[in-house]
Amino acid sequence: MELTKSRELFDRAVKSVPGGVHSNSRYRNPHPVYYKNAEGAYLIDVDGNRYIDCIMGNGAIILGHNDKEFNDRIQYYSRSGIVTGVETELSIKTAEKFLSLVPTAEQIRYTNTGTEAVMHAMAMSRAFTGKTDIAVIEGAYNGWHDAVYVSTWPDLLKAGDRTEPKSLPGASGLIDEVVKSTLVLPYNDLEIAERLLTVNKDRIAALIIEPTMIDIGYIPAKKEYLQGLRKLCNDLNIVLVFDELLTGFRDSPGGAQSHYGVTPDLSTFGKAISNGYMLAALAGKAAIFETVTPGKGTCSFVGTYNGHQVSLAASLAFMEIYEERQVFKTLQTRTEKLINEFARLADKHQIKARIQGRGGHFHWYFTDKEILDYRSATQSDKRAYANFIDAFIGTGVYCSPNYLLHHAISMEHTDEIIQQLVEYMDVSLQHATSIKAGL
Ligand SMILES: Cc1ncc(COP(=O)(O)O)c(C=O)c1O
Repeated sequence: MELTKSRELFDRAVKSVPGGVHSNSRYRNPHPVYYKNAEGAYLIDVDGNRYIDCIMGNGAIILGHNDKEFNDRIQYYSRSGIVTGVETELSIKTAEKFLSLVPTAEQIRYTNTGTEAVMHAMAMSRAFTGKTDIAVIEGAYNGWHDAVYVSTWPDLLKAGDRTEPKSLPGASGLIDEVVKSTLVLPYNDLEIAERLLTVNKDRIAALIIEPTMIDIGYIPAKKEYLQGLRKLCNDLNIVLVFDELLTGFRDSPGGAQSHYGVTPDLSTFGKAISNGYMLAALAGKAAIFETVTPGKGTCSFVGTYNGHQVSLAASLAFMEIYEERQVFKTLQTRTEKLINEFARLADKHQIKARIQGRGGHFHWYFTDKEILDYRSATQSDKRAYANFIDAFIGTGVYCSPNYLLHHAISMEHTDEIIQQLVEYMDVSLQHATSIKAGL
């Protein structure tokens, strides 16, 4: 694949942009690829290479790139000329539409990023319970701030026993005392959660959890686990926060909370909420929103770009089209096809591997062991994944070289494109088996 122009852009970029990227996750060795346009399911780079996009803005772009009807509706809804800093009828209409799709939520406030929505959830939980500390799930990513960027993809040599995981900083630059104050729980283990939360009940204000862990692939929660956490949080006066940044509008129309039938106190949404525009939200119980309601609470909730009108226009346009085109149903059928076809191919090539996914999100695990949490996910064979994914990327698919990340398709990933992906997976598995056999 010719990447001369990307290389040139990288050499230029590093002088003004650290590492040549504005988000470290976009960095690739030996240099990132730079893109010039996107259409449907495809990304086109500056050298003219065309890729089937299987990352889709980290799951955010769910209708597909540059959808004409979506673009037209954004223009229509943002025609007022108002950009940000004031409230409009659009601010209310978009909130109402969201609440009609996610009926477990009583109220909503819009922010710009998921990181901000999570920060507000933490502050409101502290104000609501009078407690200070946060509990997170080992391996989960809930944004990059001090209280939650803890034990995110931790080094297992440093992470301690799984029954009592250590609180490790996700990066340098975090406040050590805050990191240490965060309680870390393994995923899908109610017994350990019950013990650790009970012992720490006087200090834990909130437990934040992805109802399906997607940042390390695709690991669904057991239903009884989420139900047990719901009861536990009620009993211990802990605010239960579902991080639905990735599951929202993909795991089911009402979020993973409606798929599981478990109602959190608060939940964070983003990404697909506006089909890739910059918008996130905090939704949940009116009683907890009182902490930020003027005249009722004293907790802060401010931001120049909160409820940004162009992003709200995008969200309203997206939610309308989402219903009209039955997006969830189509994505689910296509994801099932990827899962089933990959299972057939893994069998054919005698490789212990599978795809896990739902609603357009998916990931490959190279193991036959059950994956329940971060530690079991790390048992996926890194080398086998690398051999497969190198060949898969070589066929012209944009996907992640990291064996513990996630992938996504959109409505533009038609049955024909899915079939093409299946054929590429076949060739790539063949390549991985040849390497394994030393051929
Ligand atoms: C589950 C989850 N929570 C929170 C975030 C943070 O969202 P943002 O990148 O919009 O700050 C992300 C982003 O990848 C995420 O995947």
